[in-house]
Amino acid sequence: MLGIETSCDETGIGIVRGRTLLSNTIASSMDEHARYGGVVPEVAARAHLEALQPTIEAALAEAQVTLADIDAVAVTSGPGLAGALMVGVGAAKALAVSLDKPLYAVNHLVGHIAADILTGEEVEYPTVALLVSGGHTSLLLVRDLVSDVELLGETMDDAAGEAFDKIARILGLPYPGGPEIDRAAATGDPNAIRFPRGMSRASDMAEHRYDFSFSGLKTAVARFVEQHEATGETLSVPDVAASFREAVVDVLVTKALDACARHGVPRLLLGGGVIANKRLRDVALERAEAAGVAVRIPPLSLCTDNGAMIAALASELIMSGHPASTLAFGADSTLPV
Ligand code: KG4
Ligand code: ZN
Repeated sequence: MLGIETSCDETGIGIVRGRTLLSNTIASSMDEHARYGGVVPEVAARAHLEALQPTIEAALAEAQVTLADIDAVAVTSGPGLAGALMVGVGAAKALAVSLDKPLYAVNHLVGHIAADILTGEEVEYPTVALLVSGGHTSLLLVRDLVSDVELLGETMDDAAGEAFDKIARILGLPYPGGPEIDRAAATGDPNAIRFPRGMSRASDMAEHRYDFSFSGLKTAVARFVEQHEATGETLSVPDVAASFREAVVDVLVTKALDACARHGVPRLLLGGGVIANKRLRDVALERAEAAGVAVRIPPLSLCTDNGAMIAALASELIMSGHPASTLAFGADSTLPV
């Protein structure tokens, strides 16, 4: 199974045989977006168009197979950036037709959950999944990977990674902001400033209990920095970075573990590029242990956007008897799970 992922700025091609990972190759246009401080959809789409062919070739070489060995093609049809998705969907259709093989359109978020299968460890459901990246912040309840994935909540404004990127810009740090904030936070005091935990009070409201909001936090940090600039008071970038990171981590872990408790699910799967944040992993592991919840964190190469997770999900669909997609599907930027 060859999987194609182009929902954001990573051109990901993965090849799997059943649940075995053969290759996972990625070309990123992140450098091209750096000067804009965030992903520019048009730039991402054009970069996918150029990167797809060489990335497919690299993935085939890494897996030590040729196109003639490919039995089926899988592609992310949404959610994501419309133009970026369209490039992958077009390429996947062309490949499937030319090889005369079945094509599977899959959901990007469910793909993130499927990544866990490729770790080779026994995967158990139900599990709660927390997906945090530059494009999404979603909390899902997975009773069955191919037939029962429920979106519990998502961000109402910025994604968690996007919040890191925006705060980095406010602090004069380069893009992508996550690693930069992490570095700055290393010497800071996470309790120096009590920044707001977005939507934490919403935990009492059933309809928004698992939703997130990071725009209030962003405004609070911006105001804090502006006030210091206006008064000339020295600003400790490490303290701001550490306090901001703590606010994000706190709200993510609190809501994820609350979902585990309320649904009686003793498992939590983490995914998305923000998982690179060690503080997030540490706090999740520590609090989950206290709550009797087992945490799964696939290696980072499977957590960030990649084609292998898309191929893995399509393999599961085949194994559970799902029919292939017809060629009549398009890219759906808001595709629900
Ligand atoms: O999944 P990913 O690689 O790609 C997309 O979202 O497309 O996630 C990238 C996001 C960026 O917003 C980046 O700032 C964030 O993940 N990120 C981090 C860290 N490393 C990357 N956020 C917090 N801490 C990190 N160490
Ligand atoms: Zn993603």
